[in-house]
Amino acid sequence: MLDNFKLKQRILICGVSGMLGQRCARYYSQLPGYEIMGAAPDETIKFPEVSYVYLDYTQREEVKKLVEDFCPDVIINAGAFTNVDKSETERETAWKINVKGVEHIAEAARIVDAHVVHISSDYVFDGKRGPYSEVDAPCPINYYGRTKLASENALHISGARYSILRTNVLYGIIPNGRLDFVRWVVDSISQEKQINIVTDQYNNPTFIDDLVRAMGTVVDKEAYGVYHVAGMEVLSRYDFTMRILQAFDLPSDRVVPILTESLNQPAQRPLKSGLLILKAQSELGYSPMNLDDSLELMRRELS
Ligand SMILES: NC(=O)c1ccc[n+]([C@@H]2O[C@H](COP(=O)([O-])OP(=O)(O)OC[C@H]3O[C@@H](n4cnc5c(N)ncnc54)[C@H](OP(=O)(O)O)[C@@H]3O)[C@@H](O)[C@H]2O)c1
Repeated sequence: MLDNFKLKQRILICGVSGMLGQRCARYYSQLPGYEIMGAAPDETIKFPEVSYVYLDYTQREEVKKLVEDFCPDVIINAGAFTNVDKSETERETAWKINVKGVEHIAEAARIVDAHVVHISSDYVFDGKRGPYSEVDAPCPINYYGRTKLASENALHISGARYSILRTNVLYGIIPNGRLDFVRWVVDSISQEKQINIVTDQYNNPTFIDDLVRAMGTVVDKEAYGVYHVAGMEVLSRYDFTMRILQAFDLPSDRVVPILTESLNQPAQRPLKSGLLILKAQSELGYSPMNLDDSLELMRRELS
């Protein structure tokens, strides 16, 4: 009798109100065998799928208390300060959230022996010779990238069990919060706006549900260390935009090709970037959806 009795796995999702956090909450809420707690510093957002608790993880003692009370088997960190340009001008805040916050999560995870699943970025690389593999040397060229690299290092020295999934340009269907790139392009062109799109930034856009599934796999397989989890195709942002418009049957004549330097953004962008996904494919069985199929899926869901 007792052989059939299996305790539910407890999962704490930090930053549950963000694009990725919401999608993780939905993923786990549809699977049996999990007790999920979603944590975020935003009390206005309601999550029908999961129990919700307020947490600003820059507050070390609050993180410790929540983790000791809930005693999760897994802590997913889906939160971050993600504004790349503001990270240049609001450095203290970016560091506090992206580095100190991760230190607090890792410390609490070590105490209860929880597995931390953390998300990092291709912005840890300089974008001179992408796409990059897990063994390429990071060399961030903006402050956001520096905070993401420091967050990885915080986990490496933490003594906690951890998986770091580096990804880039997330897109997918997110009910609340900020628009992903696909929705922004579709909305702008549908409203007959002109959009300027860079032709010299290359990466492999990642369908959020592929990333979420890979996060589930590292948990199931207890696969620790760094993995690159991204889309199948490396292409320029301009070409990505054209594929979006094709999938949504929208005109392309209001898309103006431009170069990154003409934007004069506060943060420098890695240009030739992207992530090689061979390790995730061979060790995790990662198999991302084809780009056009994922866009077609979004088109059907959005209409
Ligand atoms: N989006 C991309 O294209 C992309 C590319 C590469 C890597 N990533 C990485 O993927 C992860 C998820 O990104 P995303 O696009 O889903 O981000 P997002 O939509 O900007 O969400 C980030 C979430 O973190 C929360 N957060 C901020 N400060 C917090 C704190 N002190 N305590 C707890 N939660 C806090 C935010 O809550 P509030 O909104 O209430 O502040 C927000 O809900 C991040 O690690 C990001 O660096 C994203």
